[in-house]
Amino acid sequence: MANNSYKPALQKLLTETKFVDFPGDIEKTLATFDISDLAHTFVDTAFLVSAITFVGEERWIQGQNSTKEIVFAKFIKKLFKEELSPVRFLHEFFEESSLEGIAQASRNAVLIEDAVIKLARRKTKEDLRVFSATALKLISELFELEHQLTMAKQELGLHLGLSLYRTFDKLDVVFNLDYLADKGMVSPVENTERLYEGAGVGVQSGYSTAVTALRYLNLKKGSRFIDLGSGYGRVGIVVGLMRPDVEVIGYEYVPHRVQIATKAAQNLDIDKHVTFLVQDLSAPDFKIPLADTYYIYDSFSDNTYNHVISQLLEIAAQRKITIVTKGNARFRFETPEQRTKWSSPQELDNGNLCFFRSH
Ligand SMILES: C[S@@+](CC[C@H](N)C(=O)[O-])C[C@H]1O[C@@H](n2cnc3c(N)ncnc32)[C@H](O)[C@@H]1O
Repeated sequence: MANNSYKPALQKLLTETKFVDFPGDIEKTLATFDISDLAHTFVDTAFLVSAITFVGEERWIQGQNSTKEIVFAKFIKKLFKEELSPVRFLHEFFEESSLEGIAQASRNAVLIEDAVIKLARRKTKEDLRVFSATALKLISELFELEHQLTMAKQELGLHLGLSLYRTFDKLDVVFNLDYLADKGMVSPVENTERLYEGAGVGVQSGYSTAVTALRYLNLKKGSRFIDLGSGYGRVGIVVGLMRPDVEVIGYEYVPHRVQIATKAAQNLDIDKHVTFLVQDLSAPDFKIPLADTYYIYDSFSDNTYNHVISQLLEIAAQRKITIVTKGNARFRFETPEQRTKWSSPQELDNGNLCFFRSH
């Protein structure tokens, strides 16, 4: 199927009020999609679920603040200029519909999204890789759109109601990154953050963080990217899929997390340039290898931080490097002592993501 021609078929599935044969109808339609159409469908349906929740909230807020009756078609038409622009192909249906009508589309979107994932996982490694890389490229564009809309609203003193933060988390199912594997786990080191059972989804960077970092880093072809404390490998997998020309290494000392990340890289056929290794970064005999970019999502004990940062400083004395921090890790590079050693941070996502460059 050529580009865009999946859209009428997807619209038909979204607007179906009752499937005659469920899930057969969905599967039959998806079977006619090529791998790129499937990736578009995954992203469109995931986006729709968040977008329709936002439309419902926005409709409610406007209803509270207005004495006039709100004409749904007019109200929704405006949203297609900005927040709903990624699914503009659905505008006629939405304009003719009602809130209940599009809520039905949202329920169908969840079913379609799950069916796409099921189908993608049955594909060859090569297809799964293309599916995932295509989806990530589209997702990256959507996060960039969200960023631009947020900034435009901020200038007007307004808040963007649409949030895509966890919208694409079902990619974990595509990659089989089952963070619930931590269940029952006993921490190898007492009181070490995020190692214990129940650390939950917060143990991983959001896909938004990973694709945003990648968009603004401008990694050089042939460069090396190291994730220090790589968890289930989300970041490494995103970098590996979107930048097959970059070598990725992740170090992590919880063995089952490394196992899950490694399996994902193998299933996606990116394991030639993406490697995950079991390693305690605080081990005195471990030397962090040379790389161009190091990623740290707040995770370490003081001892580990000291050990890691002193090695990064040694590396920075030999070559220019970039440290990417997510969350509180930034503060380790902003102490009075460290501040002189790095550029002041380039901040993204309100400082949740920072780039520190060596001088
Ligand atoms: C917050 S998670 C971040 C995971 C991944 N970088 C991401 O952003 O999705 C931090 C990880 O660092 C690991 N970690 C903590 N201390 C470590 C150490 N001394 N050596 C290796 N890994 C460590 C934890 O087990 C955890 O999986």
